Amino acid sequence: MKKNIIIIIIFLSIVSCNKTQTAHVETSTRQRNSINNNWKFYKYENQSEADSLFYDIRPEIINVDDTKEADTPATEAAKIEASKKALKHYILPSSNAFIKDVSKHHKRPAGEPGINFPFVQSNFDDNTWENIDLPHDWAIKGPFQEGPNAEVGGGMGRLPSNGIAWYRRKIDITKTDKNKSIYLDIDGAMSYSIVWLNGYLVGGWPYGYNSFRLDLTPYINFEGENQLAIRLDNPNHSARWYPGGGIYRNVWLTKTNKIHVSHWGTKVTTTNVSIKSAKVNFKVTVENNSNSDSEIETITKIHNFNSGKIGDSVAIIEKSNTIISAGSSKTINGSVSIENPQLWGPPPSQTPNLYKAVTSIMQNGIIIDEYETIFGIRDIKLDPNQGILVNNELIKIKGVNEHHDLGAIGAAFNVRAAERKLEILKEMGVNAIRMAHNPPAPELLELTDKMGFLVIDEIFDSWERKKTPHDFHLIFPDWYEADARAMVRRDKNHPSIIIWSYGNEVGEQYTDEAGAAIGKALSDIVKEEDPTRPTTSAMNWAKSDMPFPEVMDIISFNYQGEGIRQDPIFDNVKDRIKTKPQYEPYHKKFPNKVILSSETASAASSRGVYLFPVSDLTSSPIRDGMGGDSKIKQVSSYELYAVDFGSSADKVFASLDKHPYSAGEFVWTGFDYLGEPTPYYNSRSSYNGIIDLAGFPKDRYYLYQSKWRPNFPMVHILPHWNWPNRIGKITPVHVFTSGDEAELFLNGTSLGRKKKGKFEYRLRWDNVKYQTGELKVIAYKNGKEWAKNTVKTTQEASNIVANADRYMIDADGKDLSYITVKTTDEEGLVVPTANNLIEFSIEGPGEIIATDNGDASDLMAFNSKIRHAFNGLCLAIVRPKKGVKGNIIVTIKSAGLKQAQVHIESK
Ligand code: GAL
Repeated sequence: MKKNIIIIIIFLSIVSCNKTQTAHVETSTRQRNSINNNWKFYKYENQSEADSLFYDIRPEIINVDDTKEADTPATEAAKIEASKKALKHYILPSSNAFIKDVSKHHKRPAGEPGINFPFVQSNFDDNTWENIDLPHDWAIKGPFQEGPNAEVGGGMGRLPSNGIAWYRRKIDITKTDKNKSIYLDIDGAMSYSIVWLNGYLVGGWPYGYNSFRLDLTPYINFEGENQLAIRLDNPNHSARWYPGGGIYRNVWLTKTNKIHVSHWGTKVTTTNVSIKSAKVNFKVTVENNSNSDSEIETITKIHNFNSGKIGDSVAIIEKSNTIISAGSSKTINGSVSIENPQLWGPPPSQTPNLYKAVTSIMQNGIIIDEYETIFGIRDIKLDPNQGILVNNELIKIKGVNEHHDLGAIGAAFNVRAAERKLEILKEMGVNAIRMAHNPPAPELLELTDKMGFLVIDEIFDSWERKKTPHDFHLIFPDWYEADARAMVRRDKNHPSIIIWSYGNEVGEQYTDEAGAAIGKALSDIVKEEDPTRPTTSAMNWAKSDMPFPEVMDIISFNYQGEGIRQDPIFDNVKDRIKTKPQYEPYHKKFPNKVILSSETASAASSRGVYLFPVSDLTSSPIRDGMGGDSKIKQVSSYELYAVDFGSSADKVFASLDKHPYSAGEFVWTGFDYLGEPTPYYNSRSSYNGIIDLAGFPKDRYYLYQSKWRPNFPMVHILPHWNWPNRIGKITPVHVFTSGDEAELFLNGTSLGRKKKGKFEYRLRWDNVKYQTGELKVIAYKNGKEWAKNTVKTTQEASNIVANADRYMIDADGKDLSYITVKTTDEEGLVVPTANNLIEFSIEGPGEIIATDNGDASDLMAFNSKIRHAFNGLCLAIVRPKKGVKGNIIVTIKSAGLKQAQVHIESK
């Protein structure tokens, strides 16, 4: 009985969306306790007064070009001498477990750096420090930095993510822990973490996107207090997007017996998969930290694990006995066949069924460790002439790229915020996500497993060559192997991951054999860790005769499928990438490799903004007067405009349809993200999203939905129909539909019925003369009526209408309710140009943690309780107080508008 309870609790910690961050797991064998709460935090205001406990010196920044185009080739790194004072040599040993060649393992130098520094000592009085809970992003509260000389520019989101800061917390250790191994598990800290316990430097991990474990055992005081102190040092000019700052993912204290399953110590692969049976191959690595050689038994039971419940045991990997010498580890292999397996596959045609393996380690008949592994049974095949087959069904990739930020709440990971993003993407028809350009929070992969997305997990945006002065290239030589292995070891059992990517648009594309050799080294590392999945590295400078792609299993194009800068407007541009469409040359050169587009489009738009004149091309670059307006910092939502190296959605669809062997696309991007606001670098967030930063769909959303969900009856009209200054002027109307034909009516008069031609994805009425009133569209499919829609001229805004995405939330201090506010007229129509100033207030056990409107140019801090609506919409994010149940009432007011209230129950 007790065991069942334990299993259920552990399950909640892994899959349930809102419990994940707080779960407190206790078994007689292993404890994995969240230590997210009750930290003390201090960030030096003046960085010049900061301590000198630094990882390494960094090159001086001489020239910074925040606005440089994303496809600017990476350049050679500056050479700097490691400083003698630097702590790097004390940190490097933390990577030893991930370095294969033992002779290359790092030896810790003598000495105890920092031991006398007050912040690391137990008796240091940190009362004046800020109280915070993790996950924590110190930068998101702002303020946004404005102007051309801002310290942090638009590229990194104008938020103060840079700087040195400390986190302190005591950890609970009892006398009964004495014979245990005690580990600190940090899912992600941005960046250059260095950890001290009781004044002793334990280790660290520079790369902010990887999870890591440190063994605290040698430094634990089993008789008294134990003080953790963690120093982060997040460099400016280290990213091409917003990195966030701080311990922005979960942190755990893991206590095990001396003999236990090692870190990320199980590996499941499935072979001979069919609906009749499948073979599950299971490896478990057990570590013996005790002083004596020990004989252990392992047994693994496999359970169904669907809809959040652990089901019956469906198979058992029988007991096996082995002796593990003191101070070493051993991997035990087993396998079992499962009859009539419930396969994992992407909806809507398949179901993402999961299994859970529970491994018990026994000594003298007593269970000394229990370890759980969630996995899926699926078969992936690569067909160079079709794409990717999941369980023998061809699944064309309808994917998006996503950065790690969660919009207005920043980088601090929150399960519900991530789940909401995935839900909005799923509704559009997305079946795949590329984690650009780094491994995500582990819980995000639990969500992609559960919801059935296909995933590319990616490790680096730069190798030896640099894109920004302080990016990963600074530590690549020391850390590439450890970081690449760490990604695969952590993530290998996720059925959603189908491809490992070891790079994005790296500068080594340009360095022939030398660059290809680094690519091969990385691909080999990934393959050693996991020979079952294909590897790739995304190219934006792809030449089929260059050595770089030879080594990859899958060819990944960024924008190269459509070609880059091929339009006459670029004739005089000399120093930028220009390439002809690459599908054909590559398919010819690599007939045995699958080709996919890891980035497409980089189209840009601002939700609800329509600029005139409208291009008559299907894809156009953005210039003032041509889709863009640099004065208002907005891009037209006619959805025809893209960055110079990109293409409209329509152009990409056509190029994919003309090359049916391509496996599909990952659009850049699903959601707008913080930073990289091309083409207006004085803004805060990107314009590339199909969905804005607040989570409101742009018009493009319906264009993708029309293509990706062909059986879902829908039709969408753009633009809005409030144009008092355009009466009698040409105001093109475009329609996106999953039908094949549509008829448009203006005030009841037909403007004609149009049919999509081959390689056409929208219907255009480009000569409509504006008059107020109603646009109506009736879409047809195979001659039959399929969907209808109308857009009307509205009156002035007079009301506020507010709806929450969830009216019932958990009183766990983590759950979220997203409130969408609409400014409407008397008839209830959203006024598409309204920008009223909205004021939020809240009563009851909850707080408004952020507001937003999706306007990339809005530099009002995200924690502001007032916010202008942007084209009729505004958002507030409500978080319940932990442990206090009750009604939360959010009141939304605006001068001259009828107010609204939203009632949310926190249970
Ligand atoms: C790509 C790059 C992405 C992003 C995008 C913006 O070249 O890989 O990270 O910068 O361009 O359009």
